[in-house]
Amino acid sequence: MSDEHRAHEELSKQLNDPKLRHEYAKRYDHYQVGWLARFLGWLLVSSGDLVYGTKPSYAKFKAIEVVARVPYQSWEVAAYTLLSAFYRNEKRAIELAKTSAFSRLAQDNETLHVIVLSQIVCKLKQQRFFRHTLVPFLFALFYFIAVYFLYLVYRKAALELNYVFENHAYHQYAEFLERNEAVLKHRICMYEFLSFYGRKVVTEYEFFESVRNDELIHRNTTIRELEARGYFCMPKMPEEDNPQGDAANLARS
Ligand SMILES: [Fe+2]
Ligand SMILES: [Fe+2]
Repeated sequence: MSDEHRAHEELSKQLNDPKLRHEYAKRYDHYQVGWLARFLGWLLVSSGDLVYGTKPSYAKFKAIEVVARVPYQSWEVAAYTLLSAFYRNEKRAIELAKTSAFSRLAQDNETLHVIVLSQIVCKLKQQRFFRHTLVPFLFALFYFIAVYFLYLVYRKAALELNYVFENHAYHQYAEFLERNEAVLKHRICMYEFLSFYGRKVVTEYEFFESVRNDELIHRNTTIRELEARGYFCMPKMPEEDNPQGDAANLARS
């Protein structure tokens, strides 16, 4: 397990605390995306709602997770393409390498989500070839191509589109946990891939809590990528004046 992977697991665990989660989320809760990301995000989320319904469900999550890995793969391929063109520009090469490192970590994390969710959906016999395999595959294919070209020509919109998608996923998992707390706490969630990845959970409630936290980390890290490149600067929060504050440190991590 790499240091970045270990740090992600640690942060994901800490975000189970509602107060810390609120502090971590609020810095980017009201980030305003541009018109293109808003439109494409609306198109993506509405199409998903149309096929799988607005309420969160296992089957909808499986489809979300098939699609969720795609932007990180697109960014990595696009960053590789750009590196081939700009390898003489050292500063640009470092920026692209940093984006690639984040996208690789996120891809592995999203792979964990889709594999465990597929096992759960299979166990519950909720798997349908057309709705849960073919449609997400076609969505993912279209999304991969769209994000690849978007990243090449307008990186800010590509990252903002991911913010919209991850924000939607975060709220869907939070709602699912709230609605099904009692049932999920009684369902055991033990799969080989969890131990292979290094995620320790016992019940489905713990698994979905960790997935909700992962999506929040992806959302914030995506926007922080933009912030680090100087696309914008979020106003400083009052807690940041207190360097000892747990919540402020977490919000910046
Ligand atoms: Fe995910
Ligand atoms: Fe995610």
